[in-house]
Amino acid sequence: MVYPPAKPGGKGTVAVAGVTFQVRRGEIFGFLGPNGAGKTTTISILTTLLVATSGRATIEGVDVQADPEGVRRRLGLVFQRSTADEELTGRENMLIEAGFYGLSRGEIGNHVSDLLEQMDLSSAADKFVKSYSGGMRRRLELAVGMVHRPRLVFLDEPTLGLDPQGRAGFWRYIRSLRETKGLTVFMTTHYLDEADQLCDRIAVIDHGRIVASGTPSELKDGVGGDTLVVSTAAGAGDLTPLLRSLPGVTSVASNGATYRVKCSNGESLVPKTVIAAERAGIDIVGVTVLKPTLDEVFLHLTGHAYREEGDAPSTSPSHATDPGIVSRGK
Ligand SMILES: Nc1ncnc2c1ncn2[C@@H]1O[C@H](COP(=O)(O)OP(=O)(O)OP(=O)(O)O)[C@@H](O)[C@H]1O
Ligand SMILES: [Mg+2]
Repeated sequence: MVYPPAKPGGKGTVAVAGVTFQVRRGEIFGFLGPNGAGKTTTISILTTLLVATSGRATIEGVDVQADPEGVRRRLGLVFQRSTADEELTGRENMLIEAGFYGLSRGEIGNHVSDLLEQMDLSSAADKFVKSYSGGMRRRLELAVGMVHRPRLVFLDEPTLGLDPQGRAGFWRYIRSLRETKGLTVFMTTHYLDEADQLCDRIAVIDHGRIVASGTPSELKDGVGGDTLVVSTAAGAGDLTPLLRSLPGVTSVASNGATYRVKCSNGESLVPKTVIAAERAGIDIVGVTVLKPTLDEVFLHLTGHAYREEGDAPSTSPSHATDPGIVSRGK
């Protein structure tokens, strides 16, 4: 995707290029990348808000360029930024959105009340949106995106600005829809622990290109396994040669009494380390296994930690195999 040049004859911005992936029906698919990586641009192309300058994307077999109406009917969208009408109530916003899909108040009324309740907005449903807190607006946004009961939703940082309770509630709801209705979810988030817990598969995008994809475990395994932190008593002998000789160990670093051991399976190495150290007469005072996190994957792949501008770091919070979304880019 090339954004139009700012000036006639200008070169334009290549926002995404070489983005190819498939999302399976019923899957929660995470699309992760640093600021400006091209996540929102990709979502905008897939949801027909932008027309790609090259490449092709289909949703449930429908080409986004050839049949944008058909695509729009199939999906729900939660934007990164708020789109609700401030001068209307939460319920009115939802009913208007439902109207865009040809759903009348009569047929959708209960569903709207239900959604408002799920999002913990029942008591505020008939108040003006301008009186809502940031978190309430976010939850309304989510309810609006789900009002026409889409089978596929695009969630662009849906939980940004929500407190842990709000986030947990939202994901509980999304999970239950996935389980009961086979909902397919395409999401971006800057909370990597959220992505780790929720996503069946993840693609990492950086500078407009997909740099890795796989299940959260596959991605974490790709950064070199676990780290064993071994502490010895002051004045104990050097454990380095012994640690290096243990199976599955790829590297050992030490600052004197503490050793960081990179290894393929931390848990099974704990007893081996303790026994070997005891035999060598070296006193161990503590062993901790650190599992790799998606933050490390991120750092490894993109060279920078995953943070929203000026925001908190990311550590705050299988189904059918037929293709749901297919996207191919150049
Ligand atoms: N309307 C536009 N005109 C020109 N360039 C744009 C436009 N929208 C986005 N871009 C550029 O395209 C690239 C991708 O932006 P995009 O909004 O898709 O990133 P993002 O991954 O969603 O980032 P964030 O995490 O900050 O939301 C960036 O370099 C951005 O500056
Ligand atoms: Mg974005």
